Amino acid sequence: MIGRLNHVAIAVPDLKAAAANYRDTLGAKISDPFDLPDHGVTTIFVELPNTKLELLHPLGEDSPIQKFLEKNPGGGMHHICYEVDDIYAARDKLEGDGMRVLGDGEPSIGAHDKPVLFLHPKDFTGTLIELEQA
Ligand code: CO
Repeated sequence: MIGRLNHVAIAVPDLKAAAANYRDTLGAKISDPFDLPDHGVTTIFVELPNTKLELLHPLGEDSPIQKFLEKNPGGGMHHICYEVDDIYAARDKLEGDGMRVLGDGEPSIGAHDKPVLFLHPKDFTGTLIELEQA
């Protein structure tokens, strides 16, 4: 069911410093920051030859990234995103297998203007998983 690794997301306490770290120290190509108010994040993408990183910083009140950074003040890996061909088919299969889809189970529009869903980390060895319809 899952296809390509679309991105690995890293929550960061200082977005500017993290972007400079990847751009200047590691020599990666990075995007401008952009806000995703529906997800409570400001994001910078780091483009690698075979995948992307998503640097996440809290945006607004009740950002899920704020809670994550309270537990992990130095930042850390937040989720990984796999591509699927059909997000509704993927959801129905996973729910049929007893996996928990976060939220109301309806896809929202993610950072690439494509539908996404998140899966409960306790069902996947402690890793929050995002599915994105490719
Ligand atoms: Co993501």
